[in-house]
Amino acid sequence: MQIVKHINALRKIIDGKREEGLSIGFVPTMGALHPGHLSLVDLAGQQSGFVVVSIFVNPTQFNDKGDLERYPRDLQKDIDLLAPSACQLVFAPETDEIYPESDTRQFNFGTLEEVMEGKFRPGHFNGVAQVVSRLFEIVQPDKAFFGQKDFQQLAIINEMVRKLSLPVEVIACPIIREDDGLAMSSRNMLLSAEQRLNAAHISATLFEAVNKIGEFSVENLCSWVIERINQNEFLNTEYFEIVNSVTLLPVKSWDEPCVKVGCIAVHCGKIRLIDNIEFK
Ligand code: PAF
Repeated sequence: MQIVKHINALRKIIDGKREEGLSIGFVPTMGALHPGHLSLVDLAGQQSGFVVVSIFVNPTQFNDKGDLERYPRDLQKDIDLLAPSACQLVFAPETDEIYPESDTRQFNFGTLEEVMEGKFRPGHFNGVAQVVSRLFEIVQPDKAFFGQKDFQQLAIINEMVRKLSLPVEVIACPIIREDDGLAMSSRNMLLSAEQRLNAAHISATLFEAVNKIGEFSVENLCSWVIERINQNEFLNTEYFEIVNSVTLLPVKSWDEPCVKVGCIAVHCGKIRLIDNIEFK
């Protein structure tokens, strides 16, 4: 597994692999890797000839400075985790390499960026689009792999690829969960032992909720989920919405002919956790 910090070195290696006829699979990450990331790398390995993983904590997508400062960073640990995986190249650039000058591009994703995460994290998705488009420009992957835990991010990236006509196939990968159901996230490692234990109440409530479609209207089920999670003294729900998986707008009735996904953000102390589940 090679580790490079500079675009020139990365391009030379990738160009060589392309000349050998290999397709390029790409997994962009911000490090603090866990088995959820490794599952993306595994899928990339199954579907590509050469797998690149980037590790870059992108400052432009953090609307909260404290969150950026707290974000866990341990490059050596990440490299050790990737060494036995399908990853063949780690791209770990400094900020200047990605943003030689500040990125002032403003994307417009319409309502996709205004709802849920977009409402509570202004500028977040613009930053995600900046860094992902920049990384795509640098790596030029055939396929890029993203986790469905960040459901709205996936919708935004698909829209960005469509709008900019980028020649990359975006592959959505399933959420990987801890044994007690908590969706894997780099932020989980910031939880105290007590918070970590209680955080499992989020997914447990979502699993219960999907079995209650016949019992409640959409609106009442949303209230039920929020109340039930907030009964736990460690948890405070920021939003829970059941949305159309394509438009991300809230559904009003179970009869609407669309795939419905319940998306949630919960504060556990200072740490903000997200999760989602399909309602069918
Ligand atoms: O999902 C993430 O870890 C980040 O948002 C991404 C896609 C790597 C962009 O920085």
